[in-house]
Amino acid sequence: MNALNVAVAGLGTVGRETVRLLRARRAELKEHLGAELRLVAVADRGAAREARGLGLPASVALYRDPLDMARRAEADLFVELLGGLDAPKRFALSVLGRGKALVTANKRLLAHAWPEITGAARAGGARLAFEGSVAGGIPVLRALELSFSGDRVLGVDGILNGTTNYILSRGEEGLSPQDALKEAQILGFAEKDPAMDLSGQDAAQKLSVLAGLVTGGWLKPGTFPVTGIEAVSSRDLTFARERLGMAVRLVASLRFSGKPGAPAVEASVAPTMVPMGHPLAAVRRQYNALLVHTASAGDLMFYGKGAGAGPTASAVLADVFVLARDIRGGLPAAASTARRLALTSPDHAISSYYLRLEVLDRPGALARIADALADAGVSIAAIHQDQTSGRRSVPVMIVTHRASRGAFNNALKRILSLAAVKPEHCAMRIMA
Ligand SMILES: NC(=O)c1ccc[n+]([C@@H]2O[C@H](COP(=O)([O-])OP(=O)(O)OC[C@H]3O[C@@H](n4cnc5c(N)ncnc54)[C@H](OP(=O)(O)O)[C@@H]3O)[C@@H](O)[C@H]2O)c1
Repeated sequence: MNALNVAVAGLGTVGRETVRLLRARRAELKEHLGAELRLVAVADRGAAREARGLGLPASVALYRDPLDMARRAEADLFVELLGGLDAPKRFALSVLGRGKALVTANKRLLAHAWPEITGAARAGGARLAFEGSVAGGIPVLRALELSFSGDRVLGVDGILNGTTNYILSRGEEGLSPQDALKEAQILGFAEKDPAMDLSGQDAAQKLSVLAGLVTGGWLKPGTFPVTGIEAVSSRDLTFARERLGMAVRLVASLRFSGKPGAPAVEASVAPTMVPMGHPLAAVRRQYNALLVHTASAGDLMFYGKGAGAGPTASAVLADVFVLARDIRGGLPAAASTARRLALTSPDHAISSYYLRLEVLDRPGALARIADALADAGVSIAAIHQDQTSGRRSVPVMIVTHRASRGAFNNALKRILSLAAVKPEHCAMRIMA
């Protein structure tokens, strides 16, 4: 096989750069692979316009409908860079159903349709790769899939969303969350509608992909606790830095347990205080990182740009290269197994907590808050009340000793039901 045919669906930010790199690096790729990677088809609503812009030759077939291309293009390898859920799902199922290899960078597709997509790959004996779907250009998935084959991955802690990390780390430099978001939007890496990022849902989808890759099971979105950064204020960031020597990061965590063949996982996404000396505190601006905890190799950190045309296209092309190499080598597609994934509750996890409350200036209010914590078995390590005069309510910052997440949440529920405590609050785990 002297050439492998490639078809790309979606010529937006990542698709255009993927096609550009595929053509610009043709000679190097051919030398490394021992065969040419030949672009034979592209699909996009604006395929004709984009093809002109990219200077594609007439030999590249143009489709407006990706599904049409999935059914008809004579390609060995299809790349899905459409974004969204329904059209990519139809495209992926059609490609995999034909037994063709699929590369995608679509975390939403994988998180929400994991059983169908991996099931179709299995049934069709098709290859599937999705390095670009998590942490952009950082090769975390291949490392998790292959590099720890002789080891055991115990868990991961990741900064998987560039927008929220930009807001939190610029906040440390004194910028308000609102201004930091505006800045990120002007710089072009935060979405116009940042809701998925701010709410933690984007990081949660990436966590589902990571869990699926490590365990073979489906970590269904919506089944594990996800907290965004909406409640984190400049006051929290300043208090963390100046009083506690901590940085705040949106940390996506997995802890693996269970037996071989019957995996279990504890998953969460939440703003978390991390000591300034912790490797995740050194991850600033739009950068991403994944700290992998293993049984034998210890802790390893992967760091780099988590999004953008260049980093993501680099990951997509790496997938294309690896799958093409396997096809050429006649390797059978990896026989992934569909496993039921048991979820363990994070309620038993032990750590210290930070809690900021808005408390009405009433006698006995602090005592009632302390009682609620004590009744749940949570003891206070420090309490700080901001001396803001002329306000009906004052911010109160509490740091607890180590307690279970369940106990802390029980106390929090009771505290928020107190008449003297306003609903707005910020609660964060403090990483040791
Ligand atoms: N951008 C990043 O930094 C980044 C990083 C990691 C992963 N990803 C993932 O990569 C994928 C692509 O992202 P992107 O930023 O390149 O998206 P994008 O700029 O919106 O590009 C998607 C392209 O596909 C076209 N398209 C979508 N649905 C179509 C359909 N049903 N029929 C025909 N054309 C269709 C769009 O056309 P219209 O514009 O006309 O809709 C657009 O040209 C997504 O899954 C994303 O999550 C992106």
